[in-house]
Amino acid sequence: MSGRSAHRPDSADFSQEMESGQLSRVEALACLDCEHACHVMLYCDTKAQLFGRIPIRHIILMQMRFDGLLGFPGGFVNPLTETLEEGLSRELLEELGVALPISIEEHVASCHAPSSSPSSAPLITHFYGKKMEEEQIKELETAAVSTAIDHGQEVLGMVRVPVYSMKGGGGFPSFLSHSFIGRARSQLVDSLLHFNLITPDQLQEALTHSMKIHTHSSKDLQAALTLTEKKGKC
Ligand code: APR
Ligand code: MG
Repeated sequence: MSGRSAHRPDSADFSQEMESGQLSRVEALACLDCEHACHVMLYCDTKAQLFGRIPIRHIILMQMRFDGLLGFPGGFVNPLTETLEEGLSRELLEELGVALPISIEEHVASCHAPSSSPSSAPLITHFYGKKMEEEQIKELETAAVSTAIDHGQEVLGMVRVPVYSMKGGGGFPSFLSHSFIGRARSQLVDSLLHFNLITPDQLQEALTHSMKIHTHSSKDLQAALTLTEKKGKC
């Protein structure tokens, strides 16, 4: 969080670029009046099986954020005082308890994020993917609850993404139907394809199932609201 810049935009200059969304790393860094945030997908392969029969295949780390949304570890960086990767490592120290080194080669994409309010500076989000060993991922999970200063504050807990699908939609389809910060859901699905962690067919099936779950959740919420309103009138 400490990397947040105080600059404010000449927003008209950015409106055209914002429509297309994605931009190169060089174009992104040329925008000195933009806010910059870096996030990373940390992942590994695993031979572990759920219930001794469902291959887990990959461990992918996300986090439950302070705002109740799912997101990736990382945060605001200040390219005037640090490189994007240094800033991301600093954020990882706060959120995971380890200043994990991140290299330029691990950069996946930079995008304009939708503006949260007309008065706020345009935000560019930079996304990275880092493959690790299973033991290293487990050590990070331990550090995240024992040494990370943000634990219980800005980060409510690290979570693993279930990339397997179970009968009835459990696993990945259910996970995808939760609420995510910014572009985090797209970053997750794009990265799974980019790193060949899932096939396009598996992804399409999971997303289709996820939309059905989402519709069901919406009806569930409506029923809870109706019940609450009735109780309020008693
Ligand atoms: N994709 C796109 N945008 C994202 C993503 C994502 N995956 N994750 C986060 N963002 C956006 C959010 O809008 C967020 O406000 O980037 C911004 C910075 O990311 P965070 O991880 O939330 O930043 P961090 O530095 O860790 O700390 C956030 O700063 O502005 C305050 O209220 C905020 O207290 C919070 C803190
Ligand atoms: Mg953060």
